Amino acid sequence: MPTNAHKPPAEPASPRVPGPFTLVVFGASGDLTRRKILPSIFDLWRDGHLPPRFGVVGYARTPMSDDAWRDDLRRGVAAFSRAGAVDDAAWADFARRLTYLQGSYDDPAGFRRLREHLKAGADAGRLGPNRLFYLATPPGAFAPVIRSLGESGLAVPDGAGAWSRLIVEKPFGHDLADARALAKEVRRAFAEDQVFRIDHYLGKETVQNLLVLRFANSIFDPLWNQKYVDHVQVTVAERDGVGARGRYYDRSGALRDIVQNHMMHLVSLVAMEPPVSLEADAIRDEKVKVLQALRPIPADCAADRVVRAQYAAGTVGGEAAPGYRDEPGVADDSATETFVALKLFIDNWRWAGVPFYLRTGKRMPVRITEIGIHFKPVPQVLFGAPPYGPLRPNVLAIRIQPNDGIVMRFQVKVPGAALRLEPYHMDFGYAEAFREGSPDAYERLLLDAALGDSTRFTRSDEVEAAWEFVQPILDGCEGRGGACLAAYPAGSWGPEAADRLIRDDGRGWMLVRRRRRSDVSRGASAAGENAHGP
Ligand code: NDP
Ligand code: BG6
Repeated sequence: MPTNAHKPPAEPASPRVPGPFTLVVFGASGDLTRRKILPSIFDLWRDGHLPPRFGVVGYARTPMSDDAWRDDLRRGVAAFSRAGAVDDAAWADFARRLTYLQGSYDDPAGFRRLREHLKAGADAGRLGPNRLFYLATPPGAFAPVIRSLGESGLAVPDGAGAWSRLIVEKPFGHDLADARALAKEVRRAFAEDQVFRIDHYLGKETVQNLLVLRFANSIFDPLWNQKYVDHVQVTVAERDGVGARGRYYDRSGALRDIVQNHMMHLVSLVAMEPPVSLEADAIRDEKVKVLQALRPIPADCAADRVVRAQYAAGTVGGEAAPGYRDEPGVADDSATETFVALKLFIDNWRWAGVPFYLRTGKRMPVRITEIGIHFKPVPQVLFGAPPYGPLRPNVLAIRIQPNDGIVMRFQVKVPGAALRLEPYHMDFGYAEAFREGSPDAYERLLLDAALGDSTRFTRSDEVEAAWEFVQPILDGCEGRGGACLAAYPAGSWGPEAADRLIRDDGRGWMLVRRRRRSDVSRGASAAGENAHGP
């Protein structure tokens, strides 16, 4: 056990519990409901974060009884919740709070039934009077549901002091025009403080720690700028392919699915100025300024400056993996990208001239999300030139997942009579330092929305600013079929063009290999690094 291992301060004696409310999930027959939303709700309930008057109403077009829905959810909870297998008594107590309504998303009669169902439940004391609506359908169904909520009166709180809130899943819109149209639709029915645009990356422990790392320590901010930072790398790599989500993904692709939202949040949290307070709007004001300062990649340059690629058949973890076009739900001639690499610049005083290299892909060799802050090399005078140098510059690697933590690379003298230098990695890992596990991102975000805390949600101007950056890239690349699309074998780090993108600037992709808890207990050496991944 490392010396800094300790127990964190005790949680506040009473957990945060919102007032009585009902969660209504649209798209209740789908993957997200079964894999993420209900397992998280179950964990929140089990840990005492939900009020006694609380229920979940599932709404979707598929005909299903309450019991059939509950059975499906129980399997999801067993497979995906922190609790794991659920005993019969606990499940019975939880399951009586779950009811299912069949209806379509634009049918006034369906929404009338929903309204009556909510009222009857609230009158009987089974359901909370406050309402949290969750749009867990594919994006195409968002607008009809929002319109129906407005027209049925459900968007308006049910009485003084009550609340009615809307959680919208990502991606918010299919493109810039669609995002603006959807924003208009939302504004017609809901006020901004009722709307919670979810991006589950904002609920991840290490993503939140970015603010703490940067602004609760005095040693980083003086170095966090173009004077000392050479470049920044952001990698979001997934080992999985599209799995069962081919139909959705084929209309989306990595630019819409990951770059426009998850990666833009990571970039803005790394690059933002210190906010004046921890209030939601103070933080979001600073984030949006970063997005507004992104130097556009014009459509006519996008094909040359952005690497888009699609995975072909290959081998992942020793097993054969099919090519993207052979996945269920994907068109045989699909030109959807499953990999993106690009270089961006933030044209402000702090970051002028510092390249940010971003890459994301499915079917990479490992699942890893990491931000690398690469500092400038030392001048040649003392150690920067032979026989000691050139030296590998300092790097601060912020590992978001898995095995989350922070690693700092610096030079040390190798013990002995000769003056020999080697890079050493100082390695902080959450799992080794704290015994408590952290809640799933969806747990945290669902609870925040029920409590009305919008800090970890995306504001409408953030969504729009992110789309404004991504849209010209889409315009320049889409509709050109294979002309703008490379291929890479599943299980590789993407196409050669992605390496060239960074190599042409005299740099290389780099990830840090964090030691795991088991390595520590075996006394293995500290973190190391790999040109590509651990
Ligand atoms: P699903 O395809 O499983 O859809 C959910 C449900 O929406 C379906 O069961 C279906 O229910 C209903 N639906 C409404 N309109 C359509 C339509 N045109 N085509 C297909 N189904 C439709 O999606 P997911 O659950 O995977 O995703 C839901 C939302 O969550 C999406 O916006 C997605 O981007 C987002 N998301 C999903 C993640 C995941 O891991 N699954 C992760 C992050 C975000 P019915 O037919 O019964 O009405
Ligand atoms: C979702 C994307 O938002 O994030 C998926 O729609 C992707 O395609 C997922 O797999 C990755 O999330 P995580 O938490 O596993 O990094």
